[in-house]
Amino acid sequence: MATTRRLATLGAYLRPHWREATLGIIALLTVNGLGVYIPLLIRSAVDKLSESFTYGEILRSVVLSVSLTSAMWLIRMASRIWIFGVGRQVEFELKQKIFEHLLKLEPAYFATNPVGDLISRATSDVDKIRSLLGFAVLNLVNAVFAYTLTLPVMLYLSVDLTLASLAIYPLMFLLVYIFSDRLRNEQSQVQESIADISQFIQEDVSGISLIKIYAQEENERRAFAEKNQNLLWAKLKQAQSRNTLFPLIAGLANISSLIIIWLGATRILAGSLAVGDFVALLIYVERLVFPTALLGFTITAYQRGEVSIDRVESILNSQPKIKNSDQSLALPSSSVKGEITAKNLCYTYPGSLSPALDNISFTIHPGELVAIVGAIGAGKSTLANSLPRLLDVQPGQLFLDGVDITQTPLLDLRGAITYVPQDSFLFSTTIKNNIRYGDPTEKQDAIERIAQRSQIHSEII
Ligand SMILES: Nc1ncnc2c1ncn2[C@@H]1O[C@H](COP(=O)(O)OP(=O)(O)O)[C@@H](O)[C@H]1O
Ligand SMILES: [Mg+2]
Repeated sequence: MATTRRLATLGAYLRPHWREATLGIIALLTVNGLGVYIPLLIRSAVDKLSESFTYGEILRSVVLSVSLTSAMWLIRMASRIWIFGVGRQVEFELKQKIFEHLLKLEPAYFATNPVGDLISRATSDVDKIRSLLGFAVLNLVNAVFAYTLTLPVMLYLSVDLTLASLAIYPLMFLLVYIFSDRLRNEQSQVQESIADISQFIQEDVSGISLIKIYAQEENERRAFAEKNQNLLWAKLKQAQSRNTLFPLIAGLANISSLIIIWLGATRILAGSLAVGDFVALLIYVERLVFPTALLGFTITAYQRGEVSIDRVESILNSQPKIKNSDQSLALPSSSVKGEITAKNLCYTYPGSLSPALDNISFTIHPGELVAIVGAIGAGKSTLANSLPRLLDVQPGQLFLDGVDITQTPLLDLRGAITYVPQDSFLFSTTIKNNIRYGDPTEKQDAIERIAQRSQIHSEII
């Protein structure tokens, strides 16, 4: 069930790119068709060698094989560009969708979903989905074509030689499958170590004065050395697995070739196998090495991608709690008078047992200057955040000019309010852009006047 849902999600990601995906699949089909045809061409050339042949005929086969092989190479490149391109496109669109969705969610969402986790979903999980749609789809389709097209021809040439030489392939597939799981764990170990080191450096650099005042340089140096050592070990372990796996695959492939050569040579001597058939079989067996080995990696990429699909979809499926009501009425800021009324206003933070605002009622008339005073934790900030609907206030409790604020378009409501937050925050851009953040079209002299009134004008160089 979960798998069908995930496949449907993958289908939805792919749908806008079906043209490129189809072109890529057709290219793969062509490549594999040529991959079956070229050895047959070589086979007939080789068979001619033992009969009567002219150099012209052989030359023609050689030229044909070389040009077909070059064409195959070009088409394979095209298939990669199309299919990997689809993966990249989906990656781009998913990142865009996630960011746009995050902008719609209310501040409370970010209080319960740590930013580090959201970033990792929007980057490394999206990356795994891309690899699932590019790498996994390409290799899966390629393996299916390679086997369905090559196997019948191989069996036609020689049933027992084919079975004998391919007997070892399931072992190769299993080997890669086991190793790819190990490689994946080792890769996440490396990434954790890198994250650990980055965080350590960041903390030590920001706390450098403390380290010096308490004379802790030696301790910090030792702590860093330990983390650095962990990273080295993780990388060495990964290198070890890789350096074991790849020679093993090559070794198994060679055993397959050896079996064909051994059995084939015996048959040729006995006169029961043509040399051309033998050569073609030898080429076919080698052609199947890559698709088989990559299939093992493909399964791991798919499993990883499945987890990532769930993690990304859980962001995209979270519904914004604070949004425009269906019956919202426009509130042009020129017509706002500024009468604020609270009627039995209540608010309880999600997960909290006692209300932060408990049955508050008041009216503030236009032009009035009101200060709300109270002890820490009395609910002043909660009240201030309710008015622009930064909190999910229920209908029928807060009114601006007599209109329920939940029935006012969010942009109009917030446009009518000037809000100076308790904690100052600067975006990573110029001071000018920070000053005109709420209205990027603000004129230079207005910005300068604001800077003067905030007493920072003389600080800006
Ligand atoms: N994000 C939050 N999650 C849960 N409880 C909160 C949150 N923010 C504030 N509170 C609680 O709500 C109450 C009112 O807080 P607040 O409005 O910030 O008080 P004030 O601004 O008057 O100091 C306090 O009891 C506080 O602990
Ligand atoms: Mg406060």
